[in-house]
Amino acid sequence: MKKIAIINGPNLNLLGTREPEIYGYTTLKDIENECLQFGKDNGVEIIFNQSNLEGEIVNLIQHASQNTDAIIINAAAYTHTSVAIYDALKASPIPFVEIHISNPHAREEFRHFSYISKIADGIIAGFGKDSYIIALQALAQKIASS
Ligand code: DQA
Repeated sequence: MKKIAIINGPNLNLLGTREPEIYGYTTLKDIENECLQFGKDNGVEIIFNQSNLEGEIVNLIQHASQNTDAIIINAAAYTHTSVAIYDALKASPIPFVEIHISNPHAREEFRHFSYISKIADGIIAGFGKDSYIIALQALAQKIASS
């Protein structure tokens, strides 16, 4: 069975109460459950994690790159700041998709730059919580044929 790691960055543990006008009222647990259900329905193992710590996210990427077939990452604020996360993804041999709940390009200027976009296999942003499922559909299809 193919495995996909979903890695979530800082403050995403606050989904549901954090700026709901931007991120909606769905909690990270709800999103995890939807992703796990997608995995059951489509015969893919989903490993779902969140961390507020940059180094821990690097560890999760390194582990996923050795033990899974693809990564979906919402690096949250570290998208715009982290060379360490860029380096970890660049060192990883497996495909990854960058996702965002909001559309960072429609927001403050500092969110327009992403360290990881240039090395991503794909980018999904602006579809709310559905960004996760859209990325899963795309990646599951990509790795099924590889
Ligand atoms: C985010 C967008 C980032 O700019 C922000 O720092 C986040 C969440 C999103 O999912 O829309 O924390 O990655």
